[in-house]
Amino acid sequence: MSTMKKKAAYLSTPKSPLSVQDAPFPRPEAHDVLIRNHALAMNPIDFKQQDSGAMVNSWPYTLGQDIAGTVVEVGSAVTTLQKGDRGVAALASQIVTQKGANAGFQLYTTTAGSMVARIPDDMAFTDAVVLPLGLTTTASALFSTAYLGLVPPNASGRMPVENKIKLVLIWGGSSSVGSCAIQLCAAAGLMVLTTVSPRNFEYAKESGATEALDYNDSDIVEKLAKAAYGKEVVGAYDAISSETSLAACINFLHAVGGGKLSFTLASAKLPELPQGVAVVAGRPPLRAADGGDPIWRQVWADFMGAGLQSGKFKPKPDALVLKGGLERLQDGIDLVRKGVSAKKVVVELIE
Ligand SMILES: NC(=O)c1ccc[n+]([C@@H]2O[C@H](COP(=O)([O-])OP(=O)(O)OC[C@H]3O[C@@H](n4cnc5c(N)ncnc54)[C@H](OP(=O)(O)O)[C@@H]3O)[C@@H](O)[C@H]2O)c1
Repeated sequence: MSTMKKKAAYLSTPKSPLSVQDAPFPRPEAHDVLIRNHALAMNPIDFKQQDSGAMVNSWPYTLGQDIAGTVVEVGSAVTTLQKGDRGVAALASQIVTQKGANAGFQLYTTTAGSMVARIPDDMAFTDAVVLPLGLTTTASALFSTAYLGLVPPNASGRMPVENKIKLVLIWGGSSSVGSCAIQLCAAAGLMVLTTVSPRNFEYAKESGATEALDYNDSDIVEKLAKAAYGKEVVGAYDAISSETSLAACINFLHAVGGGKLSFTLASAKLPELPQGVAVVAGRPPLRAADGGDPIWRQVWADFMGAGLQSGKFKPKPDALVLKGGLERLQDGIDLVRKGVSAKKVVVELIE
């Protein structure tokens, strides 16, 4: 195995471009799986880390969290996967472990076996790779008792009766995170109100939203409150977490009589909260092998596993695919930095 070519895209200092170089060959620890990556997806965290050096303990550093590929080796404690499993999607967790072997933007990654799921045989790596980070992020934000604590969906397809006639607001339903949130909430039987640009109204409904409104409307809060009238609002999730989106979500919750808000950015600046509105945020540890958030196991098993197999959970948003080697990763990061609409930038490794 040590003869296999191993390369990684390195960031040597903040603001420097990625540089592809030889890398040490990783071996999986007991709870880990070694994956040969075939597709890698970009997230805003990649350009944020590249621009600021945030969450980097030592240099050079390798970015990347969403990976899909083939299982090359499994650690002694992993029982759910086998060497040679053709198609898996996984969450790479270097941002938490700070170990280069766990980074995504390289040819081979080791990661916790509990954050690796088999994908259907006929599903492209470039499709499956759009999901891991978005799914994991939303699973906690929506269903963990430390966050919104909504009643989660299950693989059986039966919707929890507790969610009947209840409504949730997902702000930013065409983003990667928002797309996963809509799918999971709709699968849980909740009515989903969302905000997107008008060009993405149809996209949001295909994802499972009951109603989509334009976040640029000057009276968006009033329109959302009107759309929620007569339903029990169980919370709001801001997948964007800008100053204006947070303020709008808070005003919406206030207008409907109060409730909890969860959001994606732990660093977001919050306005003063009106009475009856509470915020829940923060990020749980990413290493499920070391505990992690228990909801991940359930959501990964039900959705990355059974849900993808049955077609109840779909890779969304659509992949915008760049083909080539690890050298294409910088182009991908730059595209995300410029801004995408209802798309996930993916590099398909064809070397
Ligand atoms: N990706 C992840 O798994 C992840 C995990 C943790 C945290 N986060 C954080 O969550 C945020 C979103 O990440 P992402 O990857 O989901 O982003 P993304 O997919 O790159 O976001 C692009 C989308 O954002 C929408 N958008 C932009 N401004 C908006 C606004 N003011 N209101 C509503 N929608 C707006 C756009 O909608 P239209 O085109 O319809 O206008 C576009 O479709 C980032 O700050 C990221 O760092 C992401």
